[in-house]
Amino acid sequence: MPNEQQPAKMWSGRFREPLNKTFEEWQRSFPFDWRLLPQEVAASKAHARAIAAAGILTDAELATMLDGLDQVLAQTTLTPAVVAEAPEAEDIHHFTELQLTKVIGDLALKLHTGRSRNEQIATDMRLFVRDAIDATLTGLREWRSSLIDLAESAGEAVMPSYTHLQRAEPVLVAHWLLTYVSQLERDSSRLVDARKRMNLCPLGSGAIAGATLALDRTIAAKALGFDGPTPNSMDATSDRDFALEFTQALATLGIHISRFAEELTLYSTAEFGFLDLPEAFSTGSSAMPQKKNPDLTELIRGKSGRLLGAATTLATLIKGLPLAYNKDLQEGQEPVFDAADTIAGMLSVLPPFTSSLRFRYDRMQAAATTGYLNAMAAATYLTHKGVPFRKAHEKIGNAVRFGLETGRELGDLTLDELRKFGEEFSEDFYESITLEATLDCHDVIGGTARHRVSQALADARERLKVEAGKVGDSRYVSV
Ligand code: ARG
Repeated sequence: MPNEQQPAKMWSGRFREPLNKTFEEWQRSFPFDWRLLPQEVAASKAHARAIAAAGILTDAELATMLDGLDQVLAQTTLTPAVVAEAPEAEDIHHFTELQLTKVIGDLALKLHTGRSRNEQIATDMRLFVRDAIDATLTGLREWRSSLIDLAESAGEAVMPSYTHLQRAEPVLVAHWLLTYVSQLERDSSRLVDARKRMNLCPLGSGAIAGATLALDRTIAAKALGFDGPTPNSMDATSDRDFALEFTQALATLGIHISRFAEELTLYSTAEFGFLDLPEAFSTGSSAMPQKKNPDLTELIRGKSGRLLGAATTLATLIKGLPLAYNKDLQEGQEPVFDAADTIAGMLSVLPPFTSSLRFRYDRMQAAATTGYLNAMAAATYLTHKGVPFRKAHEKIGNAVRFGLETGRELGDLTLDELRKFGEEFSEDFYESITLEATLDCHDVIGGTARHRVSQALADARERLKVEAGKVGDSRYVSV
């Protein structure tokens, strides 16, 4: 078929044979990259400004083109149905150009001067990821805020902590919840860090070697809110580190979320009984009338697997890929979209779920005050009496064994009984192993002593405030 009969193709000039129809349909990215329309329009407007400055467009043509691109964005509501009706569009770049041609005519054909789809997709994806990072950071701040509120509302409520899933020492419920705040602070900082690194503009990199026009690349970079142009055209068109880092940061975040989900699932069982699942976030069983199932925590535990999957796909895709652009990279889009959607969904339910949690503090306290959880505090008591810790450990171990045999806690043993294990025991032993003393002996930064935890709460709140204050306006669609 002569190429004049294939006007809709972007690259038909050197071809004489038509594409295999099945292959043609199969290789298209428009069925999923349609969601990059806002990014594609913004990047196209930025490029139009750059080529106008290079003398390719007159001022009037630039104005028409910018207005036309705005119209394309305003008039197009892309849905899978619309996408199905545009079989001629190979990808979002092609679609946008076709639409622009409908709006402003042949002037649209000048837009592609000095640019390549390789730099376009690299730019669109950076813009998408930057937005997704900002949305995730907002969601994380909200969730941190509800965790901090919940921790604060727990006051001096206590619970057992666990190592090896065996009861270890009593801790404040607030101390336990602040663990997750620490994890999320690291997740936020990873995303902030990745955002800084990726905030450079690929436009002007051309297909591989740089634009074939002497473009002022700072024009497009500035218009899109980037810190500047990327320094190497081969890297810019082949790099997907920003997508990899984004999905890897989300994978780590997903790991944290799944730990939280797992603990709450466990603590809501009758065996632990530390909380009643909020009905608004639970479902029943169609078979067993008594059931209230932790679907929310189970589902987010499951969804964290998708986040890990996205990171793995990206890493596998990039590994061993020769420079520069290769079509394989097209496969990197869907995992990024899926990860962004998945984390957005998870962070939409986690803050209200967290705010609705009501703990059974009585059950938690009972579990924290039985089973010799004050044994370490008891050993510490002996060290203050000059007993070397190893020996103190042995003496308290013997006392615990005696307690187990006689069905009593350490505080129930008489002084005479205790003295069989060590002459250093005296009356003040009992006050050193109360619940309060057991908490407060952990008087270090990061420990569960009551005043340390209230300081930690205030610090966490302050860090959240500082971070929220730093949030800039990253919108670019209006340029
Ligand atoms: N849809 C393509 C992608 O996502 C756009 C870039 C195409 N470039 C090319 N040289 N075929 O990767």
